[in-house]
Amino acid sequence: MQPPTNTFFKLLSEKAFLQLSDEEKQLILKRGGLKIGIAETMRENVISTFQIPLGFVSDLKVNGKSYFVPLAIEERGVVSQIIKGIELINSGSGFIAKSTESIMIGQIQIVNIPDLIKAEQNILAEKKNLLVDANSISTTRKAIDLQIKNIDTKFGKMMIVELFIDVKDSMGANIVDSMCELLAPTIEQLSGGRVNIRILSNLATKRMVKVKGKIPYENFNDSSIIEKIVKASIFADADPYRAVTHNKGIMNGVSAVLLATGNDTRAVEAGAHAYASIQGKYTPLSNWKQDSKGNLYGCLQLPMSVGVVGGIVSVHPLAKLCLKILDVKSSEALGQVAGAIGLSSNLGALYTLVTTGITAISK
Ligand code: MEV
Repeated sequence: MQPPTNTFFKLLSEKAFLQLSDEEKQLILKRGGLKIGIAETMRENVISTFQIPLGFVSDLKVNGKSYFVPLAIEERGVVSQIIKGIELINSGSGFIAKSTESIMIGQIQIVNIPDLIKAEQNILAEKKNLLVDANSISTTRKAIDLQIKNIDTKFGKMMIVELFIDVKDSMGANIVDSMCELLAPTIEQLSGGRVNIRILSNLATKRMVKVKGKIPYENFNDSSIIEKIVKASIFADADPYRAVTHNKGIMNGVSAVLLATGNDTRAVEAGAHAYASIQGKYTPLSNWKQDSKGNLYGCLQLPMSVGVVGGIVSVHPLAKLCLKILDVKSSEALGQVAGAIGLSSNLGALYTLVTTGITAISK
């Protein structure tokens, strides 16, 4: 069972709770942790701060480690769905998560190239030096490759230079954009054309997370629920109108973790929905199946460009505190937790939909 809110405050009053300092505890007890002065350093035109509810769910077991997970979300029902999903998957295999490396892609668009073949040869001949230049602006993040793709557009072939950067534990947008901007003048010269835009891609297919979970059939009071969840998943597989709502249920959980930890929810959401349609048809990011023994098995896969250092993560006091409580030290671990919460919110939503219906939980 998950601790209710008052249990959280009881735990907080214990001296050694999660090694929080008195100041950090005060930040929670104050019920609102963003001073206007800090907000003004985050963006332009600030007039106030806008609060949404924050809470924690406990005992999310990912790869054997138990997490206390912060969730910033305003929608009634979602946290109950996440708790249901966690309870079900913890009762079986727990969450098994895997990540790829933390590689982000930067894109440099070049137009008006007189000779595409010559331009490509010139740029590739300089690849080694270009990577050395890119790496002159960071000691921690590393540009590891540069590739060229010529895409078909309504104005004919267009050259896109792609820079692959291992951004480690940062989200990576700043360093990717900075490296692309640094290389653009040289690349423009080598191409004989004109660089138009240079920016990272939010379709982070080289920074993926995959989360699986299995629940033995005997852990369901009513074994027909498994078949109903599988049929709901098949519906999402076949119909984009359902798939998008299925995926919205996943992103309810993912974005709640990302918002609480100061991450860019729009970046991950854009990447998730693009990935959902990468084969030319919009599909669900997760699937639920029944194995030969009748157990329920679910798997979720999505791009996960998140960071535990840099950006808002290092500025917003509550985001810093949430990360400390979550106790993740790498972007990989944060992505796996967010993915596991996404699988939980998805399972909890499907469970609710095939049993009581969604309006019962929202009352
Ligand atoms: C509501 O925020 C999310 C759900 O619509 C997800 C789903 O339909 O799977 C309940």
